[in-house]
Amino acid sequence: MTKQQIDYDRIAEIYDLYVTADYDVPFFLEETAKVQGAVLELTSGTGRLSLPLIETGVQLTCVDGSQGMLDILSSKLQERGLNADIVCADISQLQLQGTFELAILPFQSFLEIVGESHQRQALASIYACLTPGGRLICPIHNPPIRRSQVDGSLRLVGQFPTPDGSLVVSGFEQGGHPVVNRLQFFEFFGHDGQLLSKQLLPMKFELIDKDRFEFMAQESGFRILNLYGNYDRSPFDDHQSPVMIWILGKSDSS
Ligand SMILES: C[S@@+](CC[C@H](N)C(=O)[O-])C[C@H]1O[C@@H](n2cnc3c(N)ncnc32)[C@H](O)[C@@H]1O
Repeated sequence: MTKQQIDYDRIAEIYDLYVTADYDVPFFLEETAKVQGAVLELTSGTGRLSLPLIETGVQLTCVDGSQGMLDILSSKLQERGLNADIVCADISQLQLQGTFELAILPFQSFLEIVGESHQRQALASIYACLTPGGRLICPIHNPPIRRSQVDGSLRLVGQFPTPDGSLVVSGFEQGGHPVVNRLQFFEFFGHDGQLLSKQLLPMKFELIDKDRFEFMAQESGFRILNLYGNYDRSPFDDHQSPVMIWILGKSDSS
């Protein structure tokens, strides 16, 4: 049974219009440059991060549970004459060829696995894909900071250009202890400002406390190698850091 909470197939065609972030790219370029062999990117989606990595020569295996998102990634690779192994799978049930020195799980996507038993299953599944001494890099939200936006208020994500005019994305969130229920709205407008169509995406993710993530990671066999509070590698600060960037290591002997 799939562990995916959000139906990305429904918005795969429009994802790249409104997800344009690149703040984590230099960090992952540095981390992947330390690795000789293939790198495993979990929840690659349409390749927001995959493409810059592959373009600099990283040999990437891209895993995602949404075939729609992976179809977009495949066509972008084909257009650019680039190659990567692409696997449609749930990250809690990975059955991949070979093992990897580095796995990355960017963009807080681990939090889209809801429920501790599923989260533990995912960590165990990823652990099994690593070589002895291999690493997992897993950024997740810092709950107290992220929770301040979970207040039921409608917030604008932004207005983005489309061939026909613009796309306005907004959403509101409720809950947060620990599961956040988000309703995201997509409104397409013509060049004349007329509303053309609307789309709705229910989303669900979980805020995982630092101690609970650390405990689950250790129980899965990982050692905590480092914990950054942001992509500039500043140390994690409970009260201020937007994210917890976990660098986890598999022991040399397992
Ligand atoms: C917010 S998107 C991030 C995509 C991409 N990493 C990026 O930075 O744009 C989250 C992605 O995680 C994938 N995903 C969520 N849960 C998953 C699971 N259990 N197994 C595999 N993929 C999953 C979704 O299909 C989606 O493509």
